[in-house]
Amino acid sequence: MEANMPKRKEPGKSLRIKVISMGNAEVGKSCIIKRYCEKRFVSKYLATIGIDYGVTKVQVRDREIKVNIFDMAGHPFFYEVRNEFYKDTQGVILVYDVGQKDSFDALDAWLAEMKHDLGPHGNMENIVFAVCANKIDCTKPRCVDESEGRLWAESKGFLYFETSAQTGEGIHEMFQTFYVSIVDLCENGGKRPVPNSSASFTKEQADAIRRIRNSKDSWDMLGVKPGASRDEVNKAYRKLAVLLHPDKCVAPGSEDAFKAVVNARTALLKNIK
Ligand code: GTP
Ligand code: MG
Repeated sequence: MEANMPKRKEPGKSLRIKVISMGNAEVGKSCIIKRYCEKRFVSKYLATIGIDYGVTKVQVRDREIKVNIFDMAGHPFFYEVRNEFYKDTQGVILVYDVGQKDSFDALDAWLAEMKHDLGPHGNMENIVFAVCANKIDCTKPRCVDESEGRLWAESKGFLYFETSAQTGEGIHEMFQTFYVSIVDLCENGGKRPVPNSSASFTKEQADAIRRIRNSKDSWDMLGVKPGASRDEVNKAYRKLAVLLHPDKCVAPGSEDAFKAVVNARTALLKNIK
């Protein structure tokens, strides 16, 4: 049995699991947990000091699940406290603030911290990750749109939810799906179930969408050198069009990426003899 499998009795009986929250300070980890467990929202920021611990019970199908929740502090200052708590985890709630690009860019570093602290025998593959794009209620402009967040999460086989701890939007659905996935994992011998969506696009498609999103100009978008010929532009365009055509590609953001590629080609061809 895998190292981080929970103690379990026969099917249909109770199950004990451990979940943790992860993500930068102030993204709303504690508020998400509070919204679900206590049905309330606190607008004043009270930074978590080290770790907060709570226990709750949920019902999934015919099983009663005892959930130990470890709500981590996101501030770097608490690293020494956090690093003790990564092991024996079945589920991670990984949170960023849609209005704070830094908190989205930091998600990879959070995974790296967890992987490092689990050590060489730790296995991130048998943990369910639920990514929460939080604070969707905020009126200030979003820095990370849904397709960018969803692409990041789903290309890693993680669940993705748009949430607001303030209004409660997405919170119940997130926890329900998260717990069902953890129970599925436990009943599946500790192997993470593959979400339907993640199998439906390739790494090449996800990488192309990300590259197009981050490109600095039309040349860069098509992946050709500035000053490239008509033929080179058309060749690069055809390759991307086949990869990202909405009929063929269901990766989040593919439609916008496809449109951007069409526009880039049109703009470049106008100026090439
Ligand atoms: P650390 O414990 O320091 O790691 O922070 P945290 O991620 O637990 O953040 P916390 O839940 O304490 O929330 C930080 C601030 O964001 C608080 O002022 C919350 O009221 C606010 N907040 C949390 N979630 C939401 C949300 O969905 N919408 C809005 N508008 N504000 C939120
Ligand atoms: Mg907190």
